[in-house]
Amino acid sequence: MSDHQKTEGDQSATQDSMRPESPEAAAHPRRLKSFVIRSGRKTAGQQAAYDTLWPKLGLDPGTPLRDSRSPGRESAPLVIEVGFGMGQSLAEMALAAPETDFVGIEVHPPGVGSLCLQIQTSEIGNIRIYQHDAVEVFEGCVDDASVDRIQVYFPDPWHKKRHHKRRLIQPEFTAMLAAKLKPGGLLHLATDWEHYAHHMYDVLAAEPTLENLAEDKFVERPEWRPETKFERRGQKLGHGVYDLLFRKR
Ligand SMILES: C[S@@+](CC[C@H](N)C(=O)[O-])C[C@H]1O[C@@H](n2cnc3c(N)ncnc32)[C@H](O)[C@@H]1O
Repeated sequence: MSDHQKTEGDQSATQDSMRPESPEAAAHPRRLKSFVIRSGRKTAGQQAAYDTLWPKLGLDPGTPLRDSRSPGRESAPLVIEVGFGMGQSLAEMALAAPETDFVGIEVHPPGVGSLCLQIQTSEIGNIRIYQHDAVEVFEGCVDDASVDRIQVYFPDPWHKKRHHKRRLIQPEFTAMLAAKLKPGGLLHLATDWEHYAHHMYDVLAAEPTLENLAEDKFVERPEWRPETKFERRGQKLGHGVYDLLFRKR
């Protein structure tokens, strides 16, 4: 079983959580989630870091993001990452760009714990975290024209045809992300799954408020993106890497 298959998890669990009688399905009757909550617990170190830092770093999906910016940094450049996994690449980026505020969104509890531990160990001061569905975070918390860069690295490819509708990158979500970008802001995607890469390209190219910064479809990995954990796993499996970089008109 590939790592991506493991990430996509147990389909029967997904179907259970989306049965009509579940509260989640009642609140969002038509939308399929792009994730399943994977099993796995935080390590003791991750849990301790989470317990210490979450009251300070954790963001409430019921509150506008603008109300949570650190005093004096309201106009700092803002980067939002969807699905940061275990958080290594986000932590690395935040350390390399202390003038920028980073917001990470992830639903996997050990991933959130892992990022908290890295923030604590490396004394990173410019990351805040939502532990929530990114679609709902963008819908409910993020102002239009307020974000400098949105990045989605190696999202679950949902490679079986019957699961493609669960892919995060779809026209509706892309239009919402584009609306959240400032004019000139960047949408940066990466995947190791060739079919998804071409799907991403088709979706982004069809969004009229975005323009492609690549000469053809894809760009070389920009200097700000470190290699991610899933990227390295994909490379071991012989996959390619496809970066897409589009700018808000
Ligand atoms: C394949 S992993 C990639 C992780 C990381 N970006 C990397 O490259 O190593 C995709 C991650 O996206 C998260 N995810 C998927 N859909 C999400 C959503 N709607 N909101 C927040 N996180 C999501 C999953 O929990 C998972 O950790």
